[in-house]
Amino acid sequence: MAIYNAGDQLVVLRNVCTHMGCQTGWNDASKTWDCPCHGSRYHPDGGVLLGPAAALPRLEHRLQNGGIALVT
Ligand code: FES
Repeated sequence: MAIYNAGDQLVVLRNVCTHMGCQTGWNDASKTWDCPCHGSRYHPDGGVLLGPAAALPRLEHRLQNGGIALVT
């Protein structure tokens, strides 16, 4: 799971690249989620900045007892 604080909301994403399943990582310099395998890059909200991947899926969540609970 990847979490980005957008100021007025938390964006919770599945951080597995939608191209071939590598784990994305946060790039603090460019403020993007980057895939190390084939170069896909994502906006903080999971939208695609550079393919070949499609957008990262958002995970429904709620704040609960000081933590984040995923809604299934
Ligand atoms: S697995 Fe991420 S770009 Fe291919």
